[in-house]
Formats: sequence, structure tokens, C-alpha cells
Amino acid sequence: MHRKQLELLILLSRFFLLPASLPLEIPQCNLSTKNAIFGDSVLGLLVKPGESPIVLIHPWIAPGPDADKSLTKVRGPCPALNTTANHGFIPRSGRNITMDDLIPGLKASLNVAEDIAIMAGTNAFKTNPAPSATVFDLDMLNLHGAIEHDNSLSRGDYYFGDNHSFNETIYAETRAWFHESIISLPQAVSALRSRIETSRKTNPHFFFDLDGSTATTASYLSIFGDTLKGEARRDWVDSFFQYERLPIELGWTPPALEFNMTLLLSLATRIANMLPGDLITQSVESSTYKDGSHWVGGIVNKLNRQQEL
Ligand code: HEM
Repeated sequence: MHRKQLELLILLSRFFLLPASLPLEIPQCNLSTKNAIFGDSVLGLLVKPGESPIVLIHPWIAPGPDADKSLTKVRGPCPALNTTANHGFIPRSGRNITMDDLIPGLKASLNVAEDIAIMAGTNAFKTNPAPSATVFDLDMLNLHGAIEHDNSLSRGDYYFGDNHSFNETIYAETRAWFHESIISLPQAVSALRSRIETSRKTNPHFFFDLDGSTATTASYLSIFGDTLKGEARRDWVDSFFQYERLPIELGWTPPALEFNMTLLLSLATRIANMLPGDLITQSVESSTYKDGSHWVGGIVNKLNRQQEL
């Protein structure tokens, strides 16, 4: 079976359960990987009723070091790209990611539309120090002041050291606002507001990015919940942030509504409008970055700014 047919199978599986006896080849897994996931049993290679083939075709594999150090996987500040790499929708190495990896990879894994993949991917290429690059490594996204910004929901600020690894303390501050099993829009906005306030008060080199901050909150709500309602399931969001794993075992499937730029901007704008105006003004004023360019289009200005810092 070809890779394309398998990707189609994943999409179809959202609507139909596969027959229990259908054997699936897993082309990108070598035998030892298969055995690590399923044991030696051939039965492990059969899709069982009610089981998502994503688990079989794109198993989650921790991004641990490889025996061959030259192949060591890299990860970065984006939990979504780390997650899709951990499932092999984009290169598991986290290196040399192209637009041809991103567009089908984000579509098949998260039902993210091509327009978002192209926009974000184009900005990601600019974090590659090589001029005019059309590839990037996930850790290139650590570049502070490019797409990466302060007051993240699950990462520390650049000023304090590590701006890209999952940080339990930071995520605990975010999660303290998620009071019920469904994260409501006001709760998600309160979590973001809290992170902005904390960074503004504690970080003398605070770098505020309103568009980036609202876009990331809009993204996790949309992929792990409902973009129109602006709410998400807390256990799915936890799995995503804490383990960088698709919460398939918890019943998650990719959102039925393709997540595109229109939906992203619509929810991000709602979130921005719910943040207190004085907090935004104070944050912009106290930010080391004030030229007002946007995440969507202004990365070049931000990269220039980064060189000035
Ligand atoms: C090519 C596509 C993408 C690129 C280049 C990208 C890049 C980034 C970068 C650089 C950050 C760090 C921002 C920060 O400092 O907080 C980030 C954060 C984030 N991204 Fe992505 N991203 C992409 C796609 C997505 C998608 C499809 C989602 C959907 C769920 C997503 C969800 C998030 C979330 C929720 C955060 C916030 C992490 C936090 O605040 O702790 N990203 N992304």
C-alpha cells in the first residue's frame, strides 16, 4: 500500500471504522520500531474495531537520542510541530523540514489548511540562518523575537534561559485557569492574561507579541475543541502540551472543520478583544519590541529587531 493511500485511510477512518481483519503495512517503521510498539505479535499489525489507524501508521515515539548521535532528533518551542514530528507526520528528526512536509503533514494530523501551513512555514524558513532557505529545523524556531515570543503558555521567557522546552511550572500557571473538563473561552483568555501579566512584571526584557499570543491560544482551542465556540477539552490539551502526543487514546480525532486562516484570525481577534485594553497597552509599552508588525506578516521586521537586541 502506498503512503498516499495510507494518508487517505487515516482521513476516511474519521468516518468509518476499518474491518478488523485489514492488515496494514507500516512503511516508515522498521521491524524493531513495530516490535517496540506492538510486541512480536502479528495481531498487533491489524487494525481493531474502534481503533484509529493513526496509532498504527503514525505511532508516537518519544524524541529520545538515537544511538547514532548524528541523527539525534531536535525539537523546538511549538508543541504542535513537536507533536506531529513525534508521530512522524513531519520528519521525526525535526530537521530539514520543507513545505512539502508541512502541508500534507499538518493536514493529515491536525486538519490544518494549506494557507496556515504556507504562512507559518514561510516564516519558519526565515529563522534558518542560511539565506533564502526553504527548509528549517524545529530548534531554529527558538530564535527569540522571530516567531518565538515571551509569555508563552508552556515555555519560559528567553530572558530566564530556556525558551523552548516544556516547563511544568509555567504550564501549571496556565492550567490553574482550566477549572473544568472543558476549557471555556474566558478561561483560556484568563490563562493567557495571567501569563502576560507575569512576564510583564518579572521580565526586564519582556518581548510582547499580541498576534502570536492570541494565535497560539486560538490554535489549541481549535484543534482540541471547537474553533467556533472557542473551547477545548482539557485532557486533550494536557496531552498535547505535557506529552506532545495526539490524544487519540482519549478519543480525539482531527477536527471535522478544516482549521484555516479565516478561522484562526477570527478566534484570535475574539481573544484579543477579551484581553483588557490597558494590559495590552502597558504590555506594548513595556515590551522591548514596539514596532507593531504582526506575526502573520512581520517576521522580517522582527528578525531585524532581534539583531538589534
Ligand atoms: C508551520 C507551522 C508552525 C510553525 C512554524 C509554528 C511555530 C511556533 C513557534 C515558533 C512557537 C513559539 C511561540 C512562543 O514563543 O510561545 C509556537 C507556539 C505554539 N504553536 Fe506553533 N507553529 C506552527 C503550527 C502550529 C499549529 C498548526 C498549531 C495548532 C495547534 C500550533 C500551536 C502552537 C501553540 C499552542 C503554541 C504555544 C506554545 C506555548 O505558548 O507554550 N502551531 N509555534
